[in-house]
Amino acid sequence: MKPLRKIIFPAAGMGTRFLPATKASPKEMLTIVDKPLIQYGVEEALAADMEQIIMITGRGKRAIEDHFDISAELEANLKKAGKKALYKKVSSVARMAEVIYVRQKEALGLGHAVLCARNWIFDEPFGVSLADELIVGDVPAMQQLRAVYNQTKCSVIGLIQVPEDQVSKYGIVAYQAEENGLLRLTDMVEKPNTEDAPSRLAIIGRYIFTPRLMELLRDVQPGKGGEIQLTDAISALAKEEPVYGVLLDGQRFDAGNPEGFLKANAILGLQHKKFGEALRQELIKHL
Ligand code: UTP
Repeated sequence: MKPLRKIIFPAAGMGTRFLPATKASPKEMLTIVDKPLIQYGVEEALAADMEQIIMITGRGKRAIEDHFDISAELEANLKKAGKKALYKKVSSVARMAEVIYVRQKEALGLGHAVLCARNWIFDEPFGVSLADELIVGDVPAMQQLRAVYNQTKCSVIGLIQVPEDQVSKYGIVAYQAEENGLLRLTDMVEKPNTEDAPSRLAIIGRYIFTPRLMELLRDVQPGKGGEIQLTDAISALAKEEPVYGVLLDGQRFDAGNPEGFLKANAILGLQHKKFGEALRQELIKHL
């Protein structure tokens, strides 16, 4: 197997849960404390030694390209004004990674978005990361997946445990615990009723796949709303070769909807070295 060095960021969704904020600007550019969601995702990927970012974008997503591009005028102005720290921040974003942009012309689902990157993946293993699922912890989430990938050379999927009354919001996995402590996934059910859920372990937007996943995605038939579901291809993959699950350590926020976004800003704001104390004092006045 070739080395794992590529990662896909599907970012072409409509962001309907966050309208009207996402009418003209991408959900992935929403700011948590002091930087956009997509930058958290890219930094996490780079910390896991990913070298090439394949960003799947669509209409209205140009701000993502601009964010990771060099802004010569801004950089020159900051340099001239002697704003060294800001200059460093701005210029490092533009140079942090090799980013390739692929356009998903119609939002035909997460599976379709991943398939759009097939010509950049060829026969290599690859990661997939959903930036609106923000995961913050001591060991970056993608690195936790890579550790299991390095051990097994098999596909690995990030999981969290959810309360019983929440299973119907997620893709839920069935699994067998192996002697070495790894969780081998045997099936996935998209948004099950509580009584049909095979476990309380939910898939949450961090994946590493062997190249076979791409081939299987081509055969997935469109489901509800014409969407191609990634979960269908993972289920097919798990029938052919081992697919492992990793229960992720870290704080996780579904920042793609207003409630999760507010929680992320409040909690990470309170934990922030520079702004945390002032925010805490201000919030206390309002409790
Ligand atoms: P989501 O369902 O969370 O994103 O898809 P969405 O469709 O933008 O949001 P809502 O449900 O309308 O509020 C998960 C990820 O897959 C991407 C999204 O950008 C998000 O990162 N996606 C989804 C695509 O890239 N293309 C699609 O066709 C669908």
